[in-house]
Amino acid sequence: MTVSTGQPRPVAVLAHVDESATLIVRSAQPDDAERISAMVNAHAAQGLTLPRTVENVLACLGEFVVAERGGLLVACGALNAISPALGEIRSIAVMPEAKGTGAGRGVVEFLVDLGFVLELDELVLLTKIPDFFAKFGFGVISAEQAPRVFLDEAIAGRGRTIAGRTIMYRSIVPAV
Ligand SMILES: CC(C)(COP(=O)(O)OP(=O)(O)OC[C@H]1O[C@@H](n2cnc3c(N)ncnc32)[C@H](O)[C@@H]1OP(=O)(O)O)[C@@H](O)C(=O)NCCC(=O)NCCS
Repeated sequence: MTVSTGQPRPVAVLAHVDESATLIVRSAQPDDAERISAMVNAHAAQGLTLPRTVENVLACLGEFVVAERGGLLVACGALNAISPALGEIRSIAVMPEAKGTGAGRGVVEFLVDLGFVLELDELVLLTKIPDFFAKFGFGVISAEQAPRVFLDEAIAGRGRTIAGRTIMYRSIVPAV
């Protein structure tokens, strides 16, 4: 019988990624929360992502998607609806062993598609790697150009800062 000690379970280290296996991007499930938190937090020390606790991930699980390959979680990301028209892409993180294999692309493209499905009009994000997001149609904007609700509610309202990061924007209003 397994006895629960109340200690957090260790997150297994991903040793190998089968790059030939199909990448599956899907909505996150409660069992994914520990791995998501670990993936995001692994990049927080470099200031690339904001840390997310397991509890925080569980509290907004509906925003998260994960990418898995060969049964292993290799990447994650989130889409937070700031208003009925505006979403913020957040917490994009790829396991070190899976970098450069299309997992980040898979997650970002899925989140953009999700924005369409949710009938959002615009997506924003804060990043230190604008060249990556430029590949997905995001353009750099100034703080003056950024949606007010983003700066007031998603940034200032949550104690975050734009300092040292680039604001990027993409309209996803379908062409008529
Ligand atoms: C940045 C990150 C998400 C990229 O994920 P990835 O799975 O390695 O990227 P992919 O293999 O899907 O690459 C897709 C494209 O982006 C490019 N790319 C990857 N990392 C890049 C970077 N740091 N800067 C610019 N372009 C990058 C690739 O060359 C590729 O280009 P191509 O399609 O023209 O060949 C990943 O390295 C990561 O987790 N970084 C740390 C966390 C982070 O910075 N997250 C963003 C928070 S806003």
